[in-house]
Amino acid sequence: MDIEGKRVLITGGTSGIGLATARALAARGARLVVTGRRRNAVDEAVASLRLAGAEASGVSADVSTEEGRTATLLGATRSLGGLDILINNAGAVRAGRLTDMREDEIRTMVEVDLVAPILLTRAALPALKDGAGGMVVNVTSAIALIAMPFYATYAAVKAGLSSFSESLRRELNGEGVRVLTVYPSGTDTPMMATNRAGPDVGFSLEPAEHVADAIVAGIASDAIEVIRGGPERQALIDLNRKDPLAVDARFLSIKSAFEEGVKSHSAL
Ligand SMILES: NC(=O)c1ccc[n+]([C@@H]2O[C@H](COP(=O)([O-])OP(=O)(O)OC[C@H]3O[C@@H](n4cnc5c(N)ncnc54)[C@H](OP(=O)(O)O)[C@@H]3O)[C@@H](O)[C@H]2O)c1
Repeated sequence: MDIEGKRVLITGGTSGIGLATARALAARGARLVVTGRRRNAVDEAVASLRLAGAEASGVSADVSTEEGRTATLLGATRSLGGLDILINNAGAVRAGRLTDMREDEIRTMVEVDLVAPILLTRAALPALKDGAGGMVVNVTSAIALIAMPFYATYAAVKAGLSSFSESLRRELNGEGVRVLTVYPSGTDTPMMATNRAGPDVGFSLEPAEHVADAIVAGIASDAIEVIRGGPERQALIDLNRKDPLAVDARFLSIKSAFEEGVKSHSAL
């Protein structure tokens, strides 16, 4: 897909991977609407994008509510005069033992990470089909491919989003709307600020700009998926398919240190 002039809506585009992707798409001539719940963060993101020469505006809304999704989509289509690319990027995470999770925390992950992208995509499809060729980009997580311990709900909703994305890609095949599934690995963003797990338990962070560049390359080349984390992560994904008990054993050997590192990880 030629990105020049494309009308793009990025949920959670005020921070981290979303904002870096907005910047990278703007550099390729896209027109943007970025969203988030916090008004001041939306204003700051829009100001920084405009300062860099982008055509950008913002919507302050919560994608986990019907009202917020309506405001998001209406705001975007009014500002842009239509829509070519929807990037479902807003996300929520809370790690820890399942028995330590509150029901509202579990439900927030289900609503933000899974229900919101499904319903926003459903609402956006008529606009996406209206243009010269549309695209839905779903930002899931490498955890959808290897479910790490102490992330049971987050892994479940990200795997759900991954399956939604694959099924929708096949449903829309030949109808002018492509679907790209993105699997970031650890990325240095505010979402990871409360994660204290380090390289001793296999955690490392890459800059959000690297993930953004890979997303933009994926859009430009009509790729079906972008998987981050390099050859090491790919080897673990392959092992998880071929010999899941070997991956179980690997996690068992670091289980206490891993739990200690991730138990306070929360960005809801
Ligand atoms: N960072 C990683 O290591 C990593 C790894 C794998 C996958 N991911 C996924 O990548 C995506 C982006 O994450 P990130 O690390 O870039 O996070 P981030 O820097 O914390 O940014 C999250 C963005 O989503 C917005 N947001 C959160 N909840 C929202 C809601 N209910 N409605 C609307 N906007 C909402 C936030 O703005 P407000 O707070 O103002 O709403 C912010 O703009 C997420 O889907 C995440 O699950 C991240």
